[in-house]
Amino acid sequence: MIKKYIFGAPIETEAVITTIPECKDIPEAGIISLDNGFSWTYTMADDDIVYGLGEANRGINKRGYIYVNNCNDEPLHTEDLESLYAAHNFIVLSGRRNMGLFFDYPAKITFDIGYSYQDTLTVCCEGSDLTLYIIDGTSALDVIRQFRKIIGRSYIPPKFAFGFGQSRWGYKTEKDFKDVVEGYRSRHIPLDMVYMDIDYMEDYKDFTVNPQNFPDFEAFVKDMKASKIHLVPIIDAGVKIEDGYSIYEEGKAGGYFCKREDGSDFAATVWPGRTHFPDVLNTEARQWFGSKYKVLTDAGIDGFWNDMNEPAIFYSDEGMDDLQAFLKDFAAMDPEEIPQFLLNDKVNGIKNSPRDYAAFYHDMDGIKVRHDKVHNLYGYYMTRAAGEAFDRICPGRRVLMFSRSSYIGMHRYGGVWTGDNKSWWSHLLLNIKMMPSLNMCGFLYTGADLGGFSGNTTRDLLLRWLAFGVFTPLMRDHSALGTREQECYRFERPEDFRHVISVRYRLIPYLYSEFMKAALNDDLYFKPLAFAYPDDPMATSIEDQLILGNEVMVTPVYTQNAPGRYVYLLEEMLFVKFMPDGSIFSEIMAAGHHYIQVALNEVPLFVRKGHCIPLAAPAETVDAIDTRNLELLGYEGATYTLYDDDGVSKDYDLAGHYKTYAK
Ligand code: NOJ
Repeated sequence: MIKKYIFGAPIETEAVITTIPECKDIPEAGIISLDNGFSWTYTMADDDIVYGLGEANRGINKRGYIYVNNCNDEPLHTEDLESLYAAHNFIVLSGRRNMGLFFDYPAKITFDIGYSYQDTLTVCCEGSDLTLYIIDGTSALDVIRQFRKIIGRSYIPPKFAFGFGQSRWGYKTEKDFKDVVEGYRSRHIPLDMVYMDIDYMEDYKDFTVNPQNFPDFEAFVKDMKASKIHLVPIIDAGVKIEDGYSIYEEGKAGGYFCKREDGSDFAATVWPGRTHFPDVLNTEARQWFGSKYKVLTDAGIDGFWNDMNEPAIFYSDEGMDDLQAFLKDFAAMDPEEIPQFLLNDKVNGIKNSPRDYAAFYHDMDGIKVRHDKVHNLYGYYMTRAAGEAFDRICPGRRVLMFSRSSYIGMHRYGGVWTGDNKSWWSHLLLNIKMMPSLNMCGFLYTGADLGGFSGNTTRDLLLRWLAFGVFTPLMRDHSALGTREQECYRFERPEDFRHVISVRYRLIPYLYSEFMKAALNDDLYFKPLAFAYPDDPMATSIEDQLILGNEVMVTPVYTQNAPGRYVYLLEEMLFVKFMPDGSIFSEIMAAGHHYIQVALNEVPLFVRKGHCIPLAAPAETVDAIDTRNLELLGYEGATYTLYDDDGVSKDYDLAGHYKTYAK
C-alpha cells in the first residue's frame, strides 16, 4: 500500500511516473516537523534494519551513520564521506514493520540513521516543499517491488554491454585504442568495449572528435565494429565557451545555458576551460542537447557515459575573482598572524562550492529555479536528455548509457558507475555492498571501476576485483591518468585474466537472463541474503555474500593475501569453482560455516539448493556466445527458465523470449 503526502509546493521531478492520489491525513509513522524546513523522525527498534539509499557509503544496513544526499564530485571515498555522486532518497525499514519511504526532494537532504541517537532516524532538509511516499508491505522486498513499480521500468542496455570493457583516462589516438584491442585480442582475453575518455575530443569539446588523432572517425568506428569492439565515448556536462564552436554558438543563440540571476550565462571552469552548463531541466534545451548525441551515433557509436554531471565545478568566474582578491590580501598579511589552514581552506573551497550552486538558475519551462534547489536532478536530466534523444534517433533500438551523477527517475534512462574509487581493497568491499542498494532504487545496470580508478592497483587486487566484476552487469576496468597501467595484459601471467574474464562470458546467458527478469519484474538482480532467507537471523548480518538472481550466491574474496574466505550457508548449496584449466570444481556443502579456498585465478560461486544455471562455452565476444548450446550446472532434476532476445530490440515482453531447460 502506497500513500503520497505533499508538503508545500514541490518541484515535479518525475521520479515517480504513476498517478497516486494525495493522502490528506498526517502520516501515522514517524513525526513530521515543518518548523525549520522539513524533518521526519522515527524511533527504530533495536533489530530494525534500514536498507536503501542506493549509491551511498558504508554497508547494506545503513544504520549507524549519517548520509547527505547532495550530488558531490568528491574522489576521496573514505569511510567518513557523507555525500557521493548520487542522491537516491529511498529507504526501507525492515523489522516489526516493513516500510519504505521515498523523499522526493531534489535539493540537499540528510539521512541521520542512528548517528546522533542510536535509535533515532531523522530525515531532514532545509526546504519544506516535497512529496513523501510511504509504502507498507509484507517484507522489505515487497516494499521495494511496489516502489519500483511506481518509478517505472529500469533501463535495459544492449546485450553487448554485458561484455567486458577496458577504459583508461589518457587514451588519445586511434593507435592507443588499437593497441588496447590488440593487447586483448592477441592474448585471447575477451573484450567487447573500449571506452573513450575525454582525450578523444578536440580540446574537451562535447560532440567533437580530435581530427588529428582520428582522421576518419567513422571509418575507425566501423573498423572497430568489424573486430567486434564498441567504442564508448564520454560526454561531459560543461560546454566549452569558444567562438565558432557550433554547440556553444547554438546553445548561446537558443538561450539553452543555465543563467546567473542577471540573465547572463553562468560560467564554470571544468576540463575544457570555461564552460556553460546546458539547462537540461528546460524541455527545449534538453531536446537540443540530447539531439547532439546524433553527431556520434551517426558515426556508428552505440554507447556513451555521461560524466561531471553533478555538475562538477573546478571554479566559477566569481570564485576565481574572489580567490585572486584573497591571495592579494594574503600576500600582504603578517605570516605570524595567518591562521594555519586559511590558505588551504580558501583554495580547496573554490571547487564545487555551495555558493556557486546558488548562483545560477534553471528555466523549468517558465519557472525560474535556483540551481541548489534542484541540484540533485542535473545528472538525471542530462542522461534523460540523451535517453529521450535516442528514442528519436534510433527508436526501438537500445543504446548503452550510464552516468556518474543520478537521482531516482534516471534509472529509466541509463545505468550508473560508482565514480572515482581507489585501488583499495576496502573499495572492492564497498562495491560489493553498494550493488543491492543501487538495485533497490531502480539502478540495475551498475558497476564500479574494477581494479580501482585512482592509485596504483596490484595484480592480486585486480584479479579479485574482476572475479567479483564477473557478476556485476557493468564490467569495466577503468583507471586514472598517471596511475599504473591497468589493462589486464600488462600483468604477468595474462592467462589468469583471460580465464577470469572468460568465466564472465560463460555466464552471460545466465547473467543477462537474470538481469532481464529483474528489469521486467521490478525485482533485484543482487539481493542481500536476508531477502532470500528472511527467517534466518544470521542472514541480516552478512553483507559480503550476495544473492544474484534466483539461483546463485556470490562470495567474493576481498582481502589481500587471503587464500580464501569464510562463508555462511543458510542452506545446503553447491560450491562451484571455475578452475584455470577450464574445468569446473563442484562440491555440495551443508548449511553452516565453511572456509573456502579460492586461488587468485579461480572464480567461485554457489548454486542454491535445487537449482541449476545455464553455462555457455567460452567466447571472446558477446556476439560469439553460442546460446543454443548451453550446459546446465547445478542440481540434478532442476530446471531453469532462460530469458534471451536479440540484445538490441525493445520487444522485451514477448513470451517467445523464455525457454525452460531441465537438468
Ligand atoms: C571523472 C570521472 O569520474 C573519471 O572516470 C574520468 O576518467 C575523469 N573524469 C576524466 O574524464
